[in-house]
Amino acid sequence: MRSSRFLTVLTGAGISAESGVPTFRGKDGLWRKFNPQELATMDAFMRNPRLVWEWYEYRRKLIQDVQPNPAHYAIKDLEDGFEEFLLVTQNIDGLHQRAGSRKIAELHGNIWRNRCLRCGRISDHKEVYLREIPPKCACGGTLRPDVVWFGEALPQEILSQALQAAQSCNLLLSVGASALVQPAASLPLLALRNGAFVVEINPEPTPISERVNESIRGKAGDVLPRLVKRQ
Ligand code: OAD
Repeated sequence: MRSSRFLTVLTGAGISAESGVPTFRGKDGLWRKFNPQELATMDAFMRNPRLVWEWYEYRRKLIQDVQPNPAHYAIKDLEDGFEEFLLVTQNIDGLHQRAGSRKIAELHGNIWRNRCLRCGRISDHKEVYLREIPPKCACGGTLRPDVVWFGEALPQEILSQALQAAQSCNLLLSVGASALVQPAASLPLLALRNGAFVVEINPEPTPISERVNESIRGKAGDVLPRLVKRQ
C-alpha cells in the first residue's frame, strides 16, 4: 500500500453486511428469499410496478435504518492517501457516501435516485415511502428506481471509469464481492493482467481467490481498519 500511487477499491454487498444490509447470495441472502426475475428486471416492472416499488420501499427502509460500519470509514480514510484513487461499488445503498467517500463510481446506480422512463431525467428520492405508486415525473412519465436491473446495460461512462481505474491502478482491493456478477467480477482480473497487486477481503472463498495475490479471509469491518492503521 505504501508504494502504490493509484488505488482502486471494488466493493460488493459484503461490505454493508456488518451494517445489517443483507447480501444477495449469502446464507440470509435476498436472492434466497426473493426471485430477482419478479423484482429486478424491466419486465417485472412493466408487469407489476407496484410490487417492484414496494420492494424498493422495503429496501430503502432497511438501508435508512442502518449506519456505515468501520469498513466504509476505512475506505473513506484511504481516499486521500493516494495520488489517484477510485472506489468502484456494486452497491446501491449510498453507505459509502454517508461515510464520507467522494470518488465513487456506482456501477449499479443508487436506490436514493429515480429515473423517468419517458424523459430520462434523474431525480433524488430521499424519502422511504412514496406518495403514489408508481410515482410520476414532472413530464408525466413513470419513474423507476435509478438502479441497474438484470439484463440491463451498466451506465457507460461509469463503467469506462471503472475499467480505466482497474487497468491503471497499482493496487486493487476487492471487498465483499462474490465475483459472480459481471462486469464487476472481471475488474480484479483486469487489474492483475495489467500488473497491479490484487487483494481480496472476504470471509468466504470466491472464484477469483486462487488467482489474486492475496486472499484475506475475514470480515471487511475487521480487516480494513487494521490495514489502514498499518499503512
Ligand atoms: P453477493 O451477495 O453476491 O456477495 C456478497 C459477498 O460478500 C459474498 O462473497 C460474501 O462471502 C461476502 N461477505 C459477506 N459478509 C462479509 C463481510 N462481513 N465482509 C466481507 N465480505 C463479506 O453480493 P455482490 O457480489 O455485491 O446486482 O453481488 C453483486 C450483484 O448481485 C449486486 O450488485 C446485485 C446482485 O444481484 C443487481 O441487483 C443488479
